Amino acid sequence: MKRNVVPATSEAVAEAARLLRDGNLVAFPTETVYGLGGDARSETAVARIFAAKGRPRFNPLIVHVPGLTEAEPLAEFDTRARESARRFWPGPLTLVLRRRADAELSLLASAGLDTVALRAPAHPVAQQLLRAAARPIAAPSANRSGRVSPTMAAHVAAELGTDVSLVLDGGACPVGLESTILDLTSGVPMLLRPGGVTREELIAIFGEIASPSARDHVPRAPGSLPSHYAPSLPVRLDARDARRGEALLAFGAEAPAGFSEVLWLSRKGDLVEAAANLFAMLRSLDRPEFTAIAVMPIPEHGLGLAINDRLRRAAF
Ligand code: TXA
Ligand code: MG
Repeated sequence: MKRNVVPATSEAVAEAARLLRDGNLVAFPTETVYGLGGDARSETAVARIFAAKGRPRFNPLIVHVPGLTEAEPLAEFDTRARESARRFWPGPLTLVLRRRADAELSLLASAGLDTVALRAPAHPVAQQLLRAAARPIAAPSANRSGRVSPTMAAHVAAELGTDVSLVLDGGACPVGLESTILDLTSGVPMLLRPGGVTREELIAIFGEIASPSARDHVPRAPGSLPSHYAPSLPVRLDARDARRGEALLAFGAEAPAGFSEVLWLSRKGDLVEAAANLFAMLRSLDRPEFTAIAVMPIPEHGLGLAINDRLRRAAF
């Protein structure tokens, strides 16, 4: 493990907050995936994030805050937005809202849009860090652009190396999938990215949830472009039998025989467990000795929607 990976003790969190205030990048655990954080008020810090990720400029970043109090000066909160924040924050829900004209935020952070994506993560290390830094922190997932999101500190270190000043190691991310992104800037709430908060939970609150139509030729969440979550190996979905040289991501009690290697997303058929394992297992099977990664069928409900969404992008 690289020298800049440290356990997330309170001293390490204080040091990380100092580094952030000085414009450096720090990777930190959230309940969804590891984030690559920089001062969201500093264009330079935000530019460093894009550079470290090798990410195209037009992708706006999620701005992280401890809670609603710190979020309100940054965006226009109507009743719906406030209600969503009260219900799901801190937690795996990102809200896209109109940016306030007087928001102290880098323009680069929201890629020149008049909207901003805000999230209050629930992970205790993220909460401590955001409070100690005492400013909004822009943080995309801490992977290089086009790669799967990291769910362990070692993934971050392997990909970003010295581009990040410090990696706070808080263990494996419990949710393991990125946050749900909900756009509240127009009439019906629009689900831009399925994630840790399920569509069913949102429908229970809002009654109606729209999805971006294929006719929306401008992608609202560019990170949800098909190629975003791609391992190097081909990915074959709905696998029910083995093909030569394939590795298998299995789900449920029984797996077909004949695969070169098998990793179980969840033997119990538990979607929460499968989500938490997904990215780490895709990474560990993404090796040249296999011809492809085959994936058994995953049910299309609850977190299964987000898992299948990621898998379809990986298979693209
Ligand atoms: O769980 C997560 O959300 C993680 C952790 C670190 O918080 N972060 C994350 O960030 O997944 P990132 O940058 O990898 O994905 C952010 C997504 C992108 O698809 C981006 O295009 C979209 O949010 N986004 C950001 N600002 C937006 C905006 N104003 N309007 C629409 N989409 C936006
Ligand atoms: Mg990402």
